[in-house]
Amino acid sequence: MHQPVLYKDIITALQPRREGKYVDGTVGAGGHAFGILEAGSPDGQLLGLDVDPQALEIARERLAPFGPRAVLVHASYTTLAEQLIAQGWAAVDGIVLDLGVSSMQLDTSGRGFSFREDAPLDRRFDPTRSGSPTAADLVNTLPEAELADLIYRYGEERQSRRVARTIIHARPVHTTGQLASVIRKAIRGGDHLHPATRTFQALRIAVNNELEAVETVLPQAIQALAPGGRLAIIAFHSLEDRIVKTYFRRESRDCICPPSQPVCGCGHKASLREITRKPVQTSAEEIETNPRARSARLRVAERLPKF
Ligand SMILES: C[S@@+](CC[C@H](N)C(=O)[O-])C[C@H]1O[C@@H](n2cnc3c(N)ncnc32)[C@H](O)[C@@H]1O
Repeated sequence: MHQPVLYKDIITALQPRREGKYVDGTVGAGGHAFGILEAGSPDGQLLGLDVDPQALEIARERLAPFGPRAVLVHASYTTLAEQLIAQGWAAVDGIVLDLGVSSMQLDTSGRGFSFREDAPLDRRFDPTRSGSPTAADLVNTLPEAELADLIYRYGEERQSRRVARTIIHARPVHTTGQLASVIRKAIRGGDHLHPATRTFQALRIAVNNELEAVETVLPQAIQALAPGGRLAIIAFHSLEDRIVKTYFRRESRDCICPPSQPVCGCGHKASLREITRKPVQTSAEEIETNPRARSARLRVAERLPKF
């Protein structure tokens, strides 16, 4: 088991203590959760959520030494408030969200997370969610203009129109290998990224409603924190990081009226304090052992006392 991204930074940010209650909303293989439980020994508790049943199985095994101090639930972090009610937890001392895809998911064949292997074009974190569209459904059914917009918006792919047009002509596309070779034909020129990287990211974000999920969880997380409790979020792409940054900025201000308004009319009160004005990034040493960590950005905020 390799160490999760920004492991020490997460433990430093949350400062887990005994008798504390913590939530890992993206428990994955349980790496951060393990550290939180260990630092909160002997009786800190952790609620771990994940939408991927395979990830939960791994986390269950890894966190077994902590017995009932670790509770794992197959649920989306977008249902955080509901999950806390189910646990009977009125407030928590820390929440961590390590967004995006895990190394386990990238390495597990058959789920379509890596375009380096030929697998069905699925890309859902939760393959048990019946009726939810897969990446194959999107590429085979969306009108060209919608597909191009999706690839542009979520993948920040400047050649999105050309990519969408090539995909439409190659339909039906069923596997990651097929799609990667279609995209390779469409892309002109190149940078250090594989030509399919941006389009595959876009499809994953769309299939899992990743940006909406982050927007949904932020107010629930702040609401759930006890005064002094901390929320730590690791984002892996600029779109997610921007949502977190904008929310933290806004919620750490007492007034959110436009600067042109001379007198405050909004009555907005700050609910948090930003601990990291600039995001924490991985060290060169960490990137060497885990290249995926390169794009990680950690932001931390602390709940202010309620007035
Ligand atoms: C980067 S991994 C987390 C790794 C984890 N921090 C560790 O230490 O092993 C992200 C995890 O979030 C999960 N995930 C993605 N969207 C989710 C959501 N809306 N609710 C809960 N889990 C989600 C993924 O299935 C994946 O297992």
